[in-house]
Amino acid sequence: MALSPNRGTWASKGSFVLASAGSAIGLGNIWRFPTQVGQSGGAVFVLLYLVCVFLICFPILIAEFTLGRRAQKDPVGSFLTIKPGTAWWLAGAVGVLAGAGILSFYAVIAGWTVAYVWFTATGAIPNQPAAVSTFFENFIGNGNLNLALTFIVLVATGTVIAAGVRSGIERATKTMMPVLFILLFVLAVRAVTLPGAVEGLTYYLKPDFTKLSDINVLSAALGQAFFSLSLGMGTMLTYGSYLGKKENIASAATLVVVLDTGIALLAGVIIFPSGFSIPNFDPNSGGPGLIFTVLPQLFTTLPGGQLFGASFFLLLTVAALTSAISLLEVPVAHLIDIHKWKRLPAVIIVTGTVFVLAVPSALANGAVKFLSDLPGLRVDFLSLMATVWNDFALPIGGLLTAIFVGHVWGVNGALTELLGNQSRFPGAALWGFLIRWVCPVGIASIILVKLIQ
Ligand code: TRP
Repeated sequence: MALSPNRGTWASKGSFVLASAGSAIGLGNIWRFPTQVGQSGGAVFVLLYLVCVFLICFPILIAEFTLGRRAQKDPVGSFLTIKPGTAWWLAGAVGVLAGAGILSFYAVIAGWTVAYVWFTATGAIPNQPAAVSTFFENFIGNGNLNLALTFIVLVATGTVIAAGVRSGIERATKTMMPVLFILLFVLAVRAVTLPGAVEGLTYYLKPDFTKLSDINVLSAALGQAFFSLSLGMGTMLTYGSYLGKKENIASAATLVVVLDTGIALLAGVIIFPSGFSIPNFDPNSGGPGLIFTVLPQLFTTLPGGQLFGASFFLLLTVAALTSAISLLEVPVAHLIDIHKWKRLPAVIIVTGTVFVLAVPSALANGAVKFLSDLPGLRVDFLSLMATVWNDFALPIGGLLTAIFVGHVWGVNGALTELLGNQSRFPGAALWGFLIRWVCPVGIASIILVKLIQ
């Protein structure tokens, strides 16, 4: 099938895997995963997260890649191409909206990492544990500064997307990801040799099963698994749509899952041992500030800590950017494929809309009292956005994808595309079973129980 002139294709298999990994690896792994572990009581969450990743999200990742490559369209177009004349395109439409919704709060947090490049480089962050938290609170409560940072992040994201698939996304990902891995590794080694390390590792790795009684932990684990792997809203579907027929989807998906999960687990190995080495540390109390309060204190224990810390936050910013561009790409691809827009106006309109949506999230951390503690809901606007999109929209998108691929398109049709020119896919039968039964039943039960509560 010929590609439309506004579409692109990946230069090679390597760059497709890199870009998908670049989408998956981001704030979800390094900022949100430890935060969720801390709020859900430690190792039990980690365990449930892994179960969700391997039994539910891994098969759905394969399904999204396959759907996208088959149809070579944005999410709406993909569902339409495979089942024309049905309402299935709505599943893609939810994804297009979710892309904008998620990016609106993602850009705010990415703005925090930008600021922390500066703060660590200049040594602006105080040294005592209590003062580090106060510093963070004051910073996120500064409305104008947060609006400016969010704006900068979105303009940077839009610029990369406007440059097109191949040159923009690939170049950013290829060069900086490996360096991030190395820094994370060094930090992990430092963290596990700190005084509180054993206590931290126990909290992180030894499950306390009494915490399992709470269904919220399970639903949070599922939401986090979707978020971390960029699933449930057509990001991976869209990336798959730029993929050549010769590539092996199953092996690409395996690599993405292994890298993404490995980085998240590594982030925990950094945060919890270093957290517990700080007196009176409570993994739950830091909320979204967990990494912004724990890491600066870890950097002070390293030689050249300021430079190291600044490099770390810079690379985290790049990782966030490669994820943000994948979020923006979905609504942009939609306007190009379905509404026949040119790339540049599509990028400008979508980025502008996302900024408007982002304003309440940027002001929800102390700057505007009403947004920081929504009356009746007892959460701030940003957390509300994260819950609505992560714990509901993404799993529902995943549920629809699994039903569509497993029962509407059908496993046989999907397998023909999935195998492509490959002679074999040893996991084919298992994948078919997971996508037809385990994914839909698992996701639907978790959502239902959570709703009933
Ligand atoms: N997975 C990214 C992260 O962990 C965020 C992200 C990018 C995302 N694209 C997505 C999340 C699509 C959900 C859906 O930081």
